Amino acid sequence: MTSLRVLTGITTTGTPHLGNYVGAIRPAVAASLNAGTESFYFLADYHALIKCEDPLRIQRSTLEIAASWLAAGLNPEKVFFYRQSDIPEIPELTWLLTCVTGKGLLNRAHAYKAAVDKNTAAGSDPDSDVTAGLFMYPVLMAADILMFKSHRIPVGRDQIQHIEMARDMASSFNHLYGEHFVLPEAAIEESVATLPGLDGRKMSKSYDNTIPLFAPREQLRKLIMGIVTDSRAPGEPKETEGSALFQIYQAFASAEETAALRSAYAAGIAWGDAKQMLFERIEREVAPMRERYEALIAHPDRIEATLIAGAEKARQLAAPFIRELRQAVGLRALNQQAGVRAARADKTALPAFKQYREKDGQFYFKLVDPKGTVLLQSTGYASPRDAGQAIARLQGEGPAALPALAPNLAPVQGVTSADIEQALQVLLDAADA
Ligand code: TRP
Repeated sequence: MTSLRVLTGITTTGTPHLGNYVGAIRPAVAASLNAGTESFYFLADYHALIKCEDPLRIQRSTLEIAASWLAAGLNPEKVFFYRQSDIPEIPELTWLLTCVTGKGLLNRAHAYKAAVDKNTAAGSDPDSDVTAGLFMYPVLMAADILMFKSHRIPVGRDQIQHIEMARDMASSFNHLYGEHFVLPEAAIEESVATLPGLDGRKMSKSYDNTIPLFAPREQLRKLIMGIVTDSRAPGEPKETEGSALFQIYQAFASAEETAALRSAYAAGIAWGDAKQMLFERIEREVAPMRERYEALIAHPDRIEATLIAGAEKARQLAAPFIRELRQAVGLRALNQQAGVRAARADKTALPAFKQYREKDGQFYFKLVDPKGTVLLQSTGYASPRDAGQAIARLQGEGPAALPALAPNLAPVQGVTSADIEQALQVLLDAADA
């Protein structure tokens, strides 16, 4: 049985806020409960190094994000929950992918291009302050995804290009070395709201307008009281359209609760009272999680143990897969038989014999390469058994069978005897391997 594999990474550079909760954590925890899916959630701490050079912040953020996901109900027994840097196979795969990735592909990555454009506009060297880490970001991300043969990658729109690049890298590798990778797809949740922040713009670290998910109760109240509203006085009807307060409420409330607030707006509820309603609604959802969060944060050793166990579980998939990939590219033990010379690892990429009957009533066969080019064409045999025997000899003896069968082989235009010999050798080696 192959179940759907869903994978996503969280860069460990900040403290989770309500926008992260509504847009990522809550839907992911809900999705992880679906039957027939295997979920992979990991802390992308190697990616964090590209954006953040503050070691304490990386460590603190890793702790807070891990605790947040666990407090929000992620069950590490049911999903794969791990820290990227605990999986040495990921940087190893990054290198294998680096070697099949065009530099030009990476030149086109949005984040890299934006940095170059900014430098150019400022009259600086195009690559000024651009690390090779930023440039390689998409390759590391492709390794995260391809390592676990993931099908669906829930991400924000800004990440779609990265998933497409991961597909490109997977295809290049598969083309060169056989079908090893699953081609992933981005999953964009249209129904999940992006939450406005305190100032009404999208809630984001970069605008400094966030409400931390696990702010203590009193701080949460104070922050909510600071959400921007217009100057309408109590008793004056208020617009729900464009009201950050209303949108945040809606992200937490049921349809009935939302309808009730809408009526209250129309009836001229005071902003202070509306904010109090919002505070109570969020507090109702967050308080039990906050309690779990605080208990977790107080015991970093437990979170550490959970992550180490998660890494062990993930490596049970990663370790054999990287062995397969090393084998595929030729990083092999030297005492291993030199086998499969020109062959691709994959059977579908091998030349194949086709047997058929012509209108003249006779039986023929041909050898066709993976692209469909005919390499070898027989003359007619009286019985299918004779044709089959000739095929069996070519398969069993390889090029050595050619002289004896020559009288029954018709020349094919543009195909040299070296081509034929090579194709037969490939088949022979593949059968031995
Ligand atoms: N780049 C992603 C972000 O900034 C985080 C990430 C790293 C990721 N590796 C991933 C997301 C693999 C999905 C799959 O949001």
